[in-house]
Amino acid sequence: SLTGHVRMLPLLLVLFALSHQAWGFPTIVSRKEWGARPLTCRAPLSPPVPFLITEQLTGMECQEQTLCSEMLRGLRFHSVHSKGWCDVAFNFLVGDDGRVYEGVGWNVQGSHTQGYNNVSLGIAFFGNKIGSRPSPAALSAAEGLIFYAIQKGHLSPRYIQPLLLKEETCLAPQHPGVSGKACPDITPRSAWEARETHCPHMSLPARYVIIIHTAGTSCSVSMDCLSSVRDIQSFHMDTLDFCDIGYHFLVGQDGAVYEGVGWNVQGSHTYGYNDIALGIAFIGNFVEKPPNAASLDTAQVLIQCAVVKGYLDPNYLLVGHSDVANLLSPGQALYNIIKTWPHFKH
Ligand SMILES: *[C@@H]1O[C@H](CO)[C@@H](O)[C@H](O)[C@H]1NC(C)=O
Repeated sequence: SLTGHVRMLPLLLVLFALSHQAWGFPTIVSRKEWGARPLTCRAPLSPPVPFLITEQLTGMECQEQTLCSEMLRGLRFHSVHSKGWCDVAFNFLVGDDGRVYEGVGWNVQGSHTQGYNNVSLGIAFFGNKIGSRPSPAALSAAEGLIFYAIQKGHLSPRYIQPLLLKEETCLAPQHPGVSGKACPDITPRSAWEARETHCPHMSLPARYVIIIHTAGTSCSVSMDCLSSVRDIQSFHMDTLDFCDIGYHFLVGQDGAVYEGVGWNVQGSHTYGYNDIALGIAFIGNFVEKPPNAASLDTAQVLIQCAVVKGYLDPNYLLVGHSDVANLLSPGQALYNIIKTWPHFKH
């Protein structure tokens, strides 16, 4: 169907450093060229907008302009007649053929993400086979489009790609602290029988998120995870002489979050960063095999939660442990995944 939206992990990184010449600006197939009816949307966007939303549309497989155009006409018809929107939901759509198709364009609001439409550009990928990611040509066209948007003042050079989940249609980042539902359930220290400690206070919001792996065995049921976390605390305190367990939070292969030192206490994960970074550790060793989807989702919800609650700067940077310490952590397989997460900065 033309309606299936799958929220995609944002794939696009900020492009500060890249030269103008490095990105041939993409050719934009105009509304007229793809046979759209005249645009009736009127709500204006005030540039430059601070947010970028990317999404992947499924069920619209096409690889060349004629067929992609026909599919877009169908999408537009559906958006207007079934959804009641003024046009297609997105500012631009990027075909798997590597062409950018004009949606509602630069100057008016899309209808893609409640709460963000008036402060973001929405870009949708389409045309790829169900289950596959956008083609390299599509990703490169989107990068070119974003670079162009920044150059022309449509998008802030410090734009943010908020982490959104399908269920969360109205996370308002302009009002941090109002949403309680954005956070995962966090298994408290009492559940794993943490030893009591008195460690330095963390001043929030943190500026960095550091993704770590514990390098030990992983746990896929709560009972095992509770005992892993307890063992890690003992190891950190008794052998490494840390003040407490080194991490702010731990994520198990059971998909749950375990409170380490929590939000308000400094961790002991990364020399030089402990007072400014939240350390989130995946329980296990992820050099060869990545963590499962449940745990990856949980970690991302936790990061989003930190922003919403004001524990993490909305312009935070996400790094792998190995980027800031001479370690294998978080493991290459996990590192390859977090590289695609928003705010990732090598
Ligand atoms: C966007 O819309 C929200 C909710 O309608 C409003 O509170 C906010 O001021 C708007 N922002 C801009 C930049 O127009």
